[in-house]
Amino acid sequence: MDKMELTKKEFTLFKEYIYEHIGISLSEQKIYLVQARLAKRVKQLGLEGFSAYYHTLVNDASGKEFEYLCSLISTNVTSFFREAKQWEFWKTHLSSMIAGKNNRLRIWSAACSTGEEPYSIAMFLDENLPNNSHFDIKILATDVSPRVLKEAMNGVYGPKAIANLPQKYLSNYFERKDGVGNYGIKESMKRSISFRAFNLVTGNYGVFKGKQFDIIFCRNVMIYFDKPTQQTLVDKFYEMLCPGGYLFIGSSEALTDARKGLKSRSASIYQKV
Ligand SMILES: C[S@@+](CC[C@H](N)C(=O)[O-])C[C@H]1O[C@@H](n2cnc3c(N)ncnc32)[C@H](O)[C@@H]1O
Repeated sequence: MDKMELTKKEFTLFKEYIYEHIGISLSEQKIYLVQARLAKRVKQLGLEGFSAYYHTLVNDASGKEFEYLCSLISTNVTSFFREAKQWEFWKTHLSSMIAGKNNRLRIWSAACSTGEEPYSIAMFLDENLPNNSHFDIKILATDVSPRVLKEAMNGVYGPKAIANLPQKYLSNYFERKDGVGNYGIKESMKRSISFRAFNLVTGNYGVFKGKQFDIIFCRNVMIYFDKPTQQTLVDKFYEMLCPGGYLFIGSSEALTDARKGLKSRSASIYQKV
């Protein structure tokens, strides 16, 4: 089959759909990227072109094609203990952050991708929290893409994913899965984590039923949203943080119009005051 071309008109249709349903704001320069990513799916489904695929997508009441689109469009790059400075900050301030918490911690990894972030949180707390067995820790890990969530729940990582993970973590928290370098996270590390599908832009925040978090990690996803979407999201996070709670965002995502009441504590770390 000849190379399929995504026309400007078709690109606009997908761009608007993606913005409305995922929140990702695509610039006009992304037309070739979108073309390349969608073309594979169009061929796989045996469709004649992008317009037919758009029709399939918007008419799929099961939501399965939307799930597929999410995994095609979003970038799932992540790693264990990403953004080293934030973990150093957390380590330095951990004792003051847990003071007055009655040994209870609620943390949300709000775009958890394949799970490296929530598992890093669980390992960090196991390693650094004094008497951690006395703590009631719950980590909520969400993502819009069911495909990455499945991988996250599985918790098995190949040589590339664990390449930079210090040996002590591999020894303490992982089990060797096979002879080809795959490691699985131990069940004990999974226990405190609940994985759920949640769309940060269109999701119904009512499902949290007034839950309050001590820390929200929303890292390396807001960069794909436009300013109004980011602002709405940060307002929601503000409501969902306990007084004194922290919001960790990606290092390239500084909140230029940080919401009143969120004070910058370090690069890309904000505290509800
Ligand atoms: C680049 S990864 C970041 C993973 C991790 N937080 C980190 O910093 O390493 C971005 C993740 O955001 C998710 N994502 C994109 N749009 C989303 C949305 N509207 N709601 C929830 N998650 C979304 C993607 O599926 C992807 O897994």
